[in-house]
Amino acid sequence: MAKSDNTNNTKNSEQKEEKGFLENLISPDNNNKEKMNEEMKSSPLHQFFLDSLKDIYYAEHAMVDGLETMQDAATTTELREAFEEHQYQTKEQINRLERIFKLLGETPQKKECQAIKGLQKEVENIIKITEEGTMTRDAALIIAAQKIEHYEIASYGGLAQLAITMGHEKVANLLETTLEEEEETDFLLTDIAETHINLDAEHEK
Ligand SMILES: [Fe+2]
Repeated sequence: MAKSDNTNNTKNSEQKEEKGFLENLISPDNNNKEKMNEEMKSSPLHQFFLDSLKDIYYAEHAMVDGLETMQDAATTTELREAFEEHQYQTKEQINRLERIFKLLGETPQKKECQAIKGLQKEVENIIKITEEGTMTRDAALIIAAQKIEHYEIASYGGLAQLAITMGHEKVANLLETTLEEEEETDFLLTDIAETHINLDAEHEK
C-alpha cells in the first residue's frame, strides 16, 4: 500500500513537473515572472523611471509649502482660492505617487529636484520685487505658477508614456490622472489671468 502510494506520488510529481514545463513554454510561471521582474528592475530605463518618480515626489512635497507661500502673497481672492485648491490636489498627488511606488514594489523616496528649487526661487523673487496688494504681483505669480505646472506636465506626461511602454498599466493610469489635474490647473490660471488680472495690472502705476 505504502509502495503504491509512493509510486503514485512519484507519478504525480512527474506529471506536475511535465505540466510546469509545458506551462513554462506557453506562459511564464511565478518563478519566471519574478526573474523577469528582477531583470526589469535592474534595467537602466526602469532605474531612470524610478529616479524621475523620486524627483517629482520631492517636487510635489516642495509645492505643498510653495503653494502656501503663493496663497499668502496673492492679491485677489480668485487666485488665492486657485492656489488653495491646487494645494489640496497636490496632497492627493503625493498619495497617488505613494501608491505608484507601492505598485512597483518600492518605498517612496524623495530626490532633490533642482528645477523646482529654481522655480520656487523665482516665486520668492516675484514676491520681493512686486508690491503687496497689486495686480502686477498676481499677474507675475500666475506666470511663475504656470512655469511650475509646465514642469510637472512634462514630467507626468513623459512618465505616463514610459509606464505604458514598460507595461505598468495601473501606474500609467495614476500618472495620467495627475497629468490631467496639472493641465486643468494650467488652463484655470490662464483663464484667471485673461479674465481681468492682466488688464488690471496693465493700468497700475
Ligand atoms: Fe502637482
